[in-house]
Amino acid sequence: MTERQTGRTAQQTADVVILGAGPAGLTLGNLLRAAGIDCVVLERADPEHVRTRARAGFLAANTVRVLDRHGLADGLHRHGKPHGTCEFRTEDGSFRLDYGALGRRELHTVYPQQDLVTDLLTHYLAAGGRIAFETEAQAVEGIDGPAPTVTVRDAEGRPGHWRARYVAGCDGRHGAARRSLPPDTRRYHRDHGVSWLALLAEAPPSMDAVGYAMHPDGFAGHMARTADVTRYYLQCAPGTPADAWSEERIRTALDRRLRADEHGPLHHGRILHRSVVHLESDVLDRLRYGSLLLAGDAASLPAPAAAKGANLAVLEAELLAEALIDELQRGDARALDGYSARCLTHIWRAQEFAHWMIQLLHSPVGPGSGAAVGPVVGPAVGPAVGAQAGPAEESFFHEAMRRSRVESLRTSRTHQDWFAENYVGI
Ligand code: APR
Repeated sequence: MTERQTGRTAQQTADVVILGAGPAGLTLGNLLRAAGIDCVVLERADPEHVRTRARAGFLAANTVRVLDRHGLADGLHRHGKPHGTCEFRTEDGSFRLDYGALGRRELHTVYPQQDLVTDLLTHYLAAGGRIAFETEAQAVEGIDGPAPTVTVRDAEGRPGHWRARYVAGCDGRHGAARRSLPPDTRRYHRDHGVSWLALLAEAPPSMDAVGYAMHPDGFAGHMARTADVTRYYLQCAPGTPADAWSEERIRTALDRRLRADEHGPLHHGRILHRSVVHLESDVLDRLRYGSLLLAGDAASLPAPAAAKGANLAVLEAELLAEALIDELQRGDARALDGYSARCLTHIWRAQEFAHWMIQLLHSPVGPGSGAAVGPVVGPAVGPAVGAQAGPAEESFFHEAMRRSRVESLRTSRTHQDWFAENYVGI
């Protein structure tokens, strides 16, 4: 590391400056470090926050293969749990899909994202990797040239600069990398009009499957995290504050929507964490802007319905590491030139499947849907034939299609294979 004082600000250098210590940034840092590339990770949060921030937990088979290839999978093999079943509880009955025995016969590994991030960080530091915590990137400048700079601020508000040959923007959707893109950058965006109250409960899983409940009151989800912690989701009206629902209301809604009277009681436990997630999708049309390259949530935000975020982040980090190593060590820029296109193929596959899942899980009519057509009791039917056609007819049409899609998933082996391939695949 070289450090030069320029007045009140320090300027430091690294061949690759990585913004963000999430799954994308830390996977990339580990791979570059192992290849002997001079790199540094700049992270806004403190180490405790990075190691404990609860996010996703379902790792795709390909993610495990990538981490295995680079010796980063010890922890997940020791403590992760294979998982291959989901259960749909619907208005028209319940069914289970053993997706691990369908499609490509691949399993998820359930391993909390904070444990994966902790493993990646431990490995990176043990290999002598450089990281600056409590260092917030403000902007990336000079991305059209060969020496981009990152302006930063530390926890005390002191400014600094990092000069690089490449900057990897792995700092999420609201990070500095996205803010530094050229003004004519194109992005694709969809607001799904659906919000989830996302809960972490101090409770053992209540079933040996991922549970998806479609109910006239709205969607509810159940996902194992560890032996003592379960993730629950409850669809709520967009704009609901995270603290609006009492624990009592949460318990009642979970029991009702997951149909505890029919399937057996749920373990509720203390709510350890709650937030409201509004389901949105966002994709940039390129991941490379001169010497600034994006990966993970900074490049594309898949709506959380299909748990693709961390898996895309790890896949992209490997592709980016290989491309940067080729360029910096062999002067071969072909992989870097093809980086956007290679990632976007995977990104759009994941986006399409997440969109399909959202349409499967949420009724466009009834409470929580955001559609102003009133509650639905019993089978959804639209207004009378003689009435003026409008948004209500559209909603009821989509609701009828959704139920047909669920029925096809319940009965068609081909549909189930397609589901399994996309659900675990990336
Ligand atoms: N400067 C430095 N660090 C920043 C900045 C900034 N301006 N803005 C954000 N960060 C840090 C965040 O504190 C976080 O640690 O960047 C990191 C981004 O990590 P993630 O949000 O985990 O994103 P990513 O690595 O792309 O992982 C993809 O998987 O489970 C999903 O959505 C979930 O975020 C997760 C994703």
